[in-house]
Amino acid sequence: MYVCLCKGITDNQIKDAINHGACSMRDLRSDLDVATQCGKCARDCKSILLENMTSNQSAAIANAQFIAA
Ligand code: FES
Repeated sequence: MYVCLCKGITDNQIKDAINHGACSMRDLRSDLDVATQCGKCARDCKSILLENMTSNQSAAIANAQFIAA
């Protein structure tokens, strides 16, 4: 689904950027150029960022517990 219509960026592209290390709106702007034109997508980009960072953090905790066991 398109999130940033101005730049033609989809939610999957944003998730890929997060999976490759983007951890802030600054990173997403730098990597994908989202929210740099009209800015209407900024709220949705931030929501995707927070949702996916939480998932990544949960996975990291689960991996740490698996290694410790
Ligand atoms: S919709 Fe993303 S900058 Fe306009």
